Amino acid sequence: MKRIGILFGQENTFPQAFIDRINQKAREMNAEITAEPVKIDKVVQGEPLKYHVIIDRISQDVPFYRAFLKNAASSGTAVINNPFWWSSDEKFFNNALMTKIGVPVPKTVLLPSNQLPADTNQNSFRNLAFPLDWEGIFSYIGFPAYFKPHAGGGWKSVYKCSTPEELFNNYNETNQLVMMLQEEIKFEEYYRCYCIDRQDVWVMPYEPRNPFHLRYLRDTTVAPEKNKFLTDVVLKINRALGYDFNTVELALRDGVPYAIDFCNPAPDADVNSVGEANFEWIVEAAANMAIRRALNHREGLNNLTWGDFIYASANNEPVTEGAYDASVKKKPINKIRTKKPAKKAATKNESVKNQSVEVMPEKKSKKSKAA
Ligand SMILES: Nc1ncnc2c1ncn2[C@@H]1O[C@H](COP(=O)(O)OP(=O)(O)O)[C@@H](O)[C@H]1O
Ligand SMILES: [Mg+2]
Repeated sequence: MKRIGILFGQENTFPQAFIDRINQKAREMNAEITAEPVKIDKVVQGEPLKYHVIIDRISQDVPFYRAFLKNAASSGTAVINNPFWWSSDEKFFNNALMTKIGVPVPKTVLLPSNQLPADTNQNSFRNLAFPLDWEGIFSYIGFPAYFKPHAGGGWKSVYKCSTPEELFNNYNETNQLVMMLQEEIKFEEYYRCYCIDRQDVWVMPYEPRNPFHLRYLRDTTVAPEKNKFLTDVVLKINRALGYDFNTVELALRDGVPYAIDFCNPAPDADVNSVGEANFEWIVEAAANMAIRRALNHREGLNNLTWGDFIYASANNEPVTEGAYDASVKKKPINKIRTKKPAKKAATKNESVKNQSVEVMPEKKSKKSKAA
């Protein structure tokens, strides 16, 4: 039996819909797959869990869960999203990576926190110019500018500043947050796009200037060419970063899609905010991904997703779109040989036999949303 678990916090609609959809599909497919809420009790180092796949919706807020998930990954649980990458990634790095792979991003600079981090004093900052080259920063970014945390979410501590004075006033409110200052993109169109398993993309027309409950636009029609154009950018971003579950916000200025916010590994999936049609797509795509990952689970191996950036770095190669996914396809489980631990008393047969397991080929189901 392949077990899929979901780890979640305060959200009320997505987790149960996800569980129900997987169990319904498993019945229809007559597959030995089951989904349930993750149950955690005693967490012992290196001890395998019963879950082959866990979808994580909450460890960004619960460090105990993040450590639990890394432990689970060490025994082969496919954790969605990769807890190691999620721990090290942040918005400013994401922007930097985009400049290397040709995805347009607003001009952005990193700023040190307004208040000293705990257990530091002025001596800890002797490498830092004081004052910073504010004139240089302002002439590079321009005004109005967005001032926001380098690793944030949920619109917390996001400011739009029209003048240096306004920026410095806001800066005084940000305590120990590391911030970034970003060029404003005056956009004609804005889209929030779901990306699941680095293959399924759902483009949602979005108006961030509307009140919260009216941001997802009712008219969700996106022309096929526009849909393809945006989908390609979204895939490129998520393949580079290696997220299985993420949203990307794209702002179009003069037809150029600028990536604004694309580090949302536990994106809002509540039916009450995204609406019925978007919710249905998310539940279906997420359930399909979890089932694929359960069927392709590789016993005794790491089952996390690593993006093109990590893959290229580890292999000493330039970052090439899709290189990580191609490497997984080139080397499915039946081509990977894992040695048995040496020097164990074993029968003759056991000692020479290498382990290999059959795996289902990954099914590509790139959906596109037609007008
Ligand atoms: N550079 C920018 N240009 C134009 N609008 C921006 C820019 N940065 C942020 N915004 C606006 O502010 C909102 C919140 O910023 P965002 O980067 O998405 O932060 P969070 O991750 O907290 O959601 C965005 O949805 C967008 O409407
Ligand atoms: Mg956002």
